Formats: sequence, structure tokens, C-alpha cells
Amino acid sequence: MLSVKANQELTQVSAGTPGGELMRRYWHPIAATAELDERPTKPVRLLGEDLVLYRDRSGTLGLIERFCPHRRVDLSYGIPEENGLRCMYHGWMMDETGQCIEQPFEETVHPDGRFKEKVKIAGYPVEELGGLIFAYMGPQPMPLLPRWEQLTWDNAVREICISELPCNWLQCQENSLDPVHNEWLHAYYGNVVRNGVHALPELRGTHLKIGFDVFEHGIIKRRVEAGYTEEDDDWKEGHPIMFPNILLVGDEVRSTFQFHVPVDDENTYHVSYYVWRPAPGAQAPRQESVPYRYVPLKDENDRYINDILFNQDYLAWVTQGPVAKRHLEKLGESDKGTILFRKLLQEQAQLVADGGDPMNTFRDPEQNEAISLPLEHVKFGNRRRMGYTLVEAGEPVVADVVNETLESWEGMRSLPRTAGAAHGA
Ligand code: FES
Ligand SMILES: [Fe+2]
Repeated sequence: MLSVKANQELTQVSAGTPGGELMRRYWHPIAATAELDERPTKPVRLLGEDLVLYRDRSGTLGLIERFCPHRRVDLSYGIPEENGLRCMYHGWMMDETGQCIEQPFEETVHPDGRFKEKVKIAGYPVEELGGLIFAYMGPQPMPLLPRWEQLTWDNAVREICISELPCNWLQCQENSLDPVHNEWLHAYYGNVVRNGVHALPELRGTHLKIGFDVFEHGIIKRRVEAGYTEEDDDWKEGHPIMFPNILLVGDEVRSTFQFHVPVDDENTYHVSYYVWRPAPGAQAPRQESVPYRYVPLKDENDRYINDILFNQDYLAWVTQGPVAKRHLEKLGESDKGTILFRKLLQEQAQLVADGGDPMNTFRDPEQNEAISLPLEHVKFGNRRRMGYTLVEAGEPVVADVVNETLESWEGMRSLPRTAGAAHGA
């Protein structure tokens, strides 16, 4: 458990709070690039601040305060011009730093006036990578946007699924440190709600052992399921939680990132980023842009969807409440990853408060060229079904290109199956 105060310190995300200052040291995805192709402005709420993301007509991306500095209308209805975002009400224009650069009527009346120079709203750096737009809201000099290897691959197909979850980001991320939930929430409960069978499905073992190690980018998570040993991949290799709010699961064929982005204290922008690679020597179909979709959370009875893998996670996180009441918890052996992660968060928040640079930030362009992360080896074939598998509710938009990509692996050597990592966490 955590005290009420310690819980607040880790979960609050506004500027000036320990958690908020820590989270401001990292880049966070805020949109799929393709969203701006359809509509060049998007209201964004990030770390408790209301912002507007836009692409101007010269292609420059901006992320500025959402409300016009003149009389506070909503700039997500504004007009992207050649070099900035113009307010639709009286035509003031701001550039991507938030600086006001035009005030048409003021300039008519006072051609030599310098009013606009004194008008500035917040503006934050944004960068595009792998079909996602990332923002940084912390102090300068800013760290580099991490180039996780899978985001940089040319020869791959992708899908972005976005969920807007009414709960704090930390309970989403804690799930990534919690292997045992796989066996219950996904396997057992999944079998109950899908098949009415009160048992683990065939081929699913119970967890015998879980382990966690801090490494340079975060924490490596390991497990041994019944029928396996510490010699198997799930223990030997494990897979990473990138500090502070990212999970990566996968192998050489397919990978999934989960970004748990704090919108404010009680909301999370959850981005699942899927990458599928063709077999060596094969070419994946070309995607003009990375398709995205928003994931439905509830069914027609206004209940959380509970029969699809990731939606089961969303159900668990959201029903812990807007901010989980950690002072009421009873933690046990299954929670040792969560306990380690909270400790790491507290340490890193303190480090930031003391003026340091927290872990997993990048300042060396060479190191940041393409960051590789440990993952289990290829386990494709014996256990993983060929073809696109729906793991989030809604209509898939990439099934055809994914299936075409995966067909290239047909006949490739398959290794012995490994256990739980094939599942969401
Ligand atoms: S309110 Fe935006 S220009 Fe007047
Ligand atoms: Fe899960």
C-alpha cells in the first residue's frame, strides 16, 4: 500500500507536483499523424493542460495553448495558415512557439504598434516518428525523442489503436508489472465470459514464478509458467517496461507498444502501437500512412467490454476508480513488480526534484539512432496463430496487409513455444 500522500505524489500530473514534474521529462504520443491528415487541428489535453495540436499549411506542427490570448475562444476551431494558427474570431495568429505574430485590426490602427510582441501563449515542441506525433512539455534543453527500434523500421506494417480511459495513468502502467493478471483476467476470466468454462484454456499454464530487474531503460519482467523452466525465454529474456509509462511486448515478427499517457489526474490517453515485420528477404505491403482507430470501451448495455484481450485490461484499470485508492490495498507476492516500480518512480521523482536528469532520457544522437530492447525470441508458429488477431474492440483496418506480411513467414523455422509473453503483458 501507499499512504494517501504518497499516492497523490505519484499520480498527480500537473506542473509543480512531483509526479507532474517527472512526467514532463519525457516525450508522450498525443495523436496519430494520420489524424491531422483528416483534420489539421486536434484538441489535446496533456499533463493537465488544454492544448491544440495543428499542422500549418507549410507542414509545421505546433502544440499551443488551446485558448486564444485575445478573448479566449477555442483555437481547435482555428485556421491553419501558411505559417501559424489563426484565430477564427478576430484573426490573431500564433506560431508554433505560441508567439502572437499577427493582429490584423491592431496593425491597421497602429501600423507601428508592438502589441503582438508582448502576447505569447504556451507552445511545446512536437515531433513525428513512425506515424505518431509526440510532445515534450518539460524544461530545456529537451532530451531527444527516443527512437525505439520498432518505430523506425522501414519494412513493416503498423496499426495504431487509441483508447481514452477515465482513470489515472499509473494504474494502467502498473498492469505492465503484473504478469499474474494474464492467467486470471485474460485466460480464466476470458474463458468464463467467452465460453462459460471455469478453467484455464488448453495450453495455458499457471504462473510459478515472477521476477523483475531494473535495467537502463526501466524494468525487465520475467515469468515461469507451469511446464517451463528458467531456461525458457519468458524467464531468460523477459520483456521490458520502459520507464516511466511504456510497455513493449513481442518478438521478431510482431511487437506492441502500450503508451500510457497522462491526460490529467483522472484520465489516460492509451496508445497501442502494433508493428508486424515480414520474414527476412520479403517486402511488406506499403502503407501510405499508419492507420489509426479509436477503441470502443463499452457495449450496448453500457458495460465495459470484457471478452476482448486489451478491453479486459481497460476494464480492470478503469474499475479501480479514477485514481486507485492505494492506501486500501493488500499487496502480496504477485505485486512485487508493482512495488519495485513505485519505488523507482519515487526515486526518479526525487532525482528530478533535486535537479537531475531521470533515467531513460536520451541526449546522445548516436545512441538514439535506433534503440534496441530485449524481447523474447521468435516464438511464431507453434503457438501464435497466423494472421491478424483482434485484441481490441472495434473494426480492424489493417487485417489484409498484416495477413499478407505474415504469410511471408510461412515455412520458417519455429522455435518451441514460450509462455505468457504472447499475451498483452
Ligand atoms: S478571440 Fe481570438 S482573435 Fe479575438
Ligand atoms: Fe493484460
